[in-house]
Order: sequence, then C-alpha cells, then structure tokens
Amino acid sequence: MPDAVGTAAPPAAAAEGARRRAVFHPLRVEAVRPLTPEAIEVTFAVPPELAGAFEYRPGQHVALRMTIDGDEVRRSYSLCRAPSPGDAARGSSIRVAIKRERGGAFSTWAVEHLAAGDVVEVMSPDGHFTPHGRYERPAHFAAIAAGSGITPVMALIEHHLGERPDDTFDLVYSNRTAGDAMFLDDLADLKDRFPSRLALHHVLTRERRPADLFSGRLDERRLETLLTRVLRADLIDEWFLCGPFELVERARAVLLRLGVDASAIRVELFSTGRAEDRRGTVPPPVEAAPGEPVRTIFFRLDGTSGTVTTPVSARETILAAALRTRGDVPFACAGGVCGTCRAVLREGTVDMAQNHALEPDELARGLILTCQSVPTSDTVSVDWDA
Ligand code: FES
Repeated sequence: MPDAVGTAAPPAAAAEGARRRAVFHPLRVEAVRPLTPEAIEVTFAVPPELAGAFEYRPGQHVALRMTIDGDEVRRSYSLCRAPSPGDAARGSSIRVAIKRERGGAFSTWAVEHLAAGDVVEVMSPDGHFTPHGRYERPAHFAAIAAGSGITPVMALIEHHLGERPDDTFDLVYSNRTAGDAMFLDDLADLKDRFPSRLALHHVLTRERRPADLFSGRLDERRLETLLTRVLRADLIDEWFLCGPFELVERARAVLLRLGVDASAIRVELFSTGRAEDRRGTVPPPVEAAPGEPVRTIFFRLDGTSGTVTTPVSARETILAAALRTRGDVPFACAGGVCGTCRAVLREGTVDMAQNHALEPDELARGLILTCQSVPTSDTVSVDWDA
C-alpha cells in the first residue's frame, strides 16, 4: 500500500503499512465520555513501552477482546482521533467510539459498564481505510458516513485539516435524528477552526431539516443530487464510505456511475449487516472420524511452522482449524470484514466465502481471509507472517 500523504505522514511502521504482528495488549481505560445516550468515547492509556505497537494511521481500527458471561467476545472499533505524539515519560493514548448495537453483547456491556480504570485487551491497529495517494499538492477528500460510520472519518478529518494546511474535506453525515449523531459538537468545533476547508452536510432520516435534500433516506436519487450539485464529485481526490452495508454499496454504485474511478473509493465495514457475521467468534472445533478424508493445512505464524488437518466434510475454515493448535492466530470479526485474519496463500486452493476487506491488488498478491477460506486442495500452505 502506498505511503500516507505528504508531510503529515505518521511514524514509519504505521505509515509504510508494514504488516505488524497483530497482538492483544492489556490497556487501561483512562476516560469514558458519553457521546449520545447510546454511544461513548473510550480513551485508553498507552504506556511508553507500547508506543510502537499502537502507532497508527488515521482511519485504522483496533480489535477489543473481553470475556462476557464466560464467552470471549471480539469487536473491531475505529480509532476516532488523529494520532498525536505521546510523552516519553507518561505515554500516549488512543480513543475509540462504541455505539450500542441492537442485540450486541459487547457494545451493550461497554456502554452500560465500561469505566475509567478497567483493563481491556486491545489489538494493535490495522486497516486500509486511509488515503492511498501521495499528494504533493493540496488534496480534496470527501466522506459519506452514517451513524457510527463517522468514527474513522473523525480521525481522517482531524488529521488532514490539522496537519496539512491546504487539504479540504467534505462530509455527508446521515443520522436518524440530530440526537443520534455522534461527535456533533466536535464536528462543529472543527468547522469553527477550519471554516473554509471543512464542509458539513448533515442528513437526517427521521427529522425534518430546512432543505428537502437533507431530510430523508440517502437513496440513489438523493445521493446523486448531493454528489453532483453540492459536492462536485469530479473534483474530489479520494472518497471514504463508512456505514451500513447497504448504504456503502449504494454510495459506491452511484459514485462509479458518476465516473469516479474505483481506485479512488475507500470502504470500511465492521459488519455485513447479517446477524451471523457479527459474532466475533469462530465455530467450535471439529474432529475427524477414523478413516475420514482430511485436508492438511501447513502454516507459518510468528516465525514458527505448524500443521493441522481438517475433515473434508466439515468445510472448516483455515482460521478455525489453525486455532486448534495455535490460540494466537490473529482474528477479530470472523465475518470477512475487518481483514485481521489475512494471510498469504503459498500453496493450494481455497474457497473464500466472503471478502469485504481485501482489495484487488491484495487478492492478486495471494492474500486470503482465513476466517472465510475453506481448503479445496488436499494440502494448503498459508503464511500469516508475510
Ligand atoms: S477476522 Fe475479520 S476478516 Fe477475518
């Protein structure tokens, strides 16, 4: 992946996109701030010795891991603030925003119970929802965000307006009502600081705004009108789409129809919207009956090799099989959207059920999502270190 843009590039490891070992670290909650009645912003303290592990680019996310009612639960959350240099003695901090999901065990627990002083397992940052271009000139970005999709966009806006004096940002931000909108005051503050460089376009689906264009669902017609009459899609360098699966796909389709190049569109999903994809857990281990045909998975992880077999009939994913012998195989969503489980397929063939995380160039380089990939050849070899 190309470097982050221009002079505002954050520290080397994160900026160059080098694959960092995805490891959980216990971090202490420094503060919890209510954003809306259903959402909180959580600040984690990063001690100086973990500063390198938590360097990140704006737009990246972390996975959180907790045990709730005896079950391990993992969820990915975007970092919602621009990276800022820490203090060598006291360390730095990272922040995520958590919104209560209907039926979401983790988010409900966090919104109701998480408090300063708690310790949560946090995985080192990851993700591609970052500018891919290298800009020597002022860049113009635009984002279409809905609900908690604003979270990574906040970090992008804060970084590009604060660190690059001539970049501009257009934000289309859709919520049901103004009371549901996260970071409303923070966005207003950014608008006060950068009045000519930030354009905010709030859309409310269940509340009337003075202009019809900004009241109602972001359907294709409304999106097309916004993108042609308000935003000038042809002048924007890169697009960031984050929100429910259907909205993101609709917005991408409209942009492509308007002539925007697919390579200029970044997409971030933490869920496909299907209930079975939101668990952050892998299916229970399977066992082969005596004499049952199996496939063999060779893998490399953290510099060591391993082997595991899986019954052909079970259609077990590579991730689920490998977790039987190595509990530290990286994963977060287990639903094909976060990309944490990606590895290079060195040998063999797989059937990958879903992919909402890997980009075409990564697929061309042989990357697969191991949480979605079932071996289809007698042997496969995957490399999590590549
Ligand atoms: S664990 Fe999220 S894509 Fe595989």
